[in-house]
Amino acid sequence: MLKNKNVILGVCGSIAAYKSAFLVRLLVKAGANVKVILTPDGAHFITPLTLATLSKNPVYTQYFEEETGVWSNHVELGLWADLIIIAPISANTLAKLATGICDNLLTAVYLSAKCPVYVAPAMDLDMWKHETTQSNIDRLIGFGNIVIAPANGELASGLWGEGRMAEPEEIVLFLDNSIKKSLPLFGKKVMVTAGPTYEAIDPVRFIGNHSSGKMGFALADELAKLGAEVTLIAGPTAQKADQSLKRIDVVSTQEMFDACIAAFAETDITVMCAAVADYRPKQIATQKIKKEDSGLFLELEKTTDILASLGKAKKSHQILVGFALETNDEENYAKGKLEKKNLDLVVLNSLNDKGAGFKSDTNKITIFNKAFERTVFEMKSKTAVAKDICTAILKITK
Ligand code: C5P
Repeated sequence: MLKNKNVILGVCGSIAAYKSAFLVRLLVKAGANVKVILTPDGAHFITPLTLATLSKNPVYTQYFEEETGVWSNHVELGLWADLIIIAPISANTLAKLATGICDNLLTAVYLSAKCPVYVAPAMDLDMWKHETTQSNIDRLIGFGNIVIAPANGELASGLWGEGRMAEPEEIVLFLDNSIKKSLPLFGKKVMVTAGPTYEAIDPVRFIGNHSSGKMGFALADELAKLGAEVTLIAGPTAQKADQSLKRIDVVSTQEMFDACIAAFAETDITVMCAAVADYRPKQIATQKIKKEDSGLFLELEKTTDILASLGKAKKSHQILVGFALETNDEENYAKGKLEKKNLDLVVLNSLNDKGAGFKSDTNKITIFNKAFERTVFEMKSKTAVAKDICTAILKITK
């Protein structure tokens, strides 16, 4: 969840500041871009050099660096951040944030920021318990800030009690879970099909198609980024799925059908992107078919239409999205599928559009909703197309 996120880590004057080095390390390892702001007292506990080296960014300590003449723009920093974590936050900085005092760079950045702000307090037990501190904490929560509660244990004073800053690993886990919960598809189970299916003729040959699986894999990735728990049912493809996805590999239409049916009842949103074979050989030869002088006749039978079967089984809380790859009379065929297969959305791509459809890294789509309202999109990368489809799904998510 922290990958590519812009994180400002504020560090205040507390002995727990020594743990900030570990926290920076973990945030960077999780893929975040980290900028550290030290309060003047924080800089007594840990050096800017340590934090700059670990974060791979300059550390900010004041508005204006006298030696270099560099002025740090608190508004820019506040707007740069996707999240701010102040760990440790001292009783002093807590009080400043609760009352709007901004007498240093960190407190000014806090007031300028629009992103979520997390604070992990660290102080002696009596300071933590004090009514003033507790009422400041309540005020901060009231403003929408998120407190990562201190733990019980030995304190720097030698006393035992509540006040130890949460461990860096716990803080990173907390941030990760918190971001997940704020995502629009958190708690939703999503199924995506992708790639072609192969229908065996004999042990070495099959009927297949040119689908690369790129569109379906891009969709699965985007849906997972929106917080969904994604099951990706993939036909034979060279695409690599992110480890956060549950990937089920299948070969034939029947295998894809079985996997879809097994998962469907639990699924909130289903996107059927696979280019499923419509016909398969009626008999699969058990031995390789030998070449003869005459031609070869294969008798084909229809495969099960997975999407139509799911459309029949669909409950009112479920969303079903189908694809239509057409070569002629595209819009009418797409609308026909929407109705016949009981879909909520149909994504049309036409093979007449250059750069759309199989194998390419781009696609050009038109989306129809149940009311037959049409949204036409420009030619885009399949990742950007996946984002557009997700936006359409979010609009109708129940
Ligand atoms: O009817 P047509 O095959 O053109 O519909 C395409 C849509 O139906 C796609 O979403 C595809 O994944 C799905 N489909 C399916 N099972 C089939 C054939 C197509 O789920 N046997």
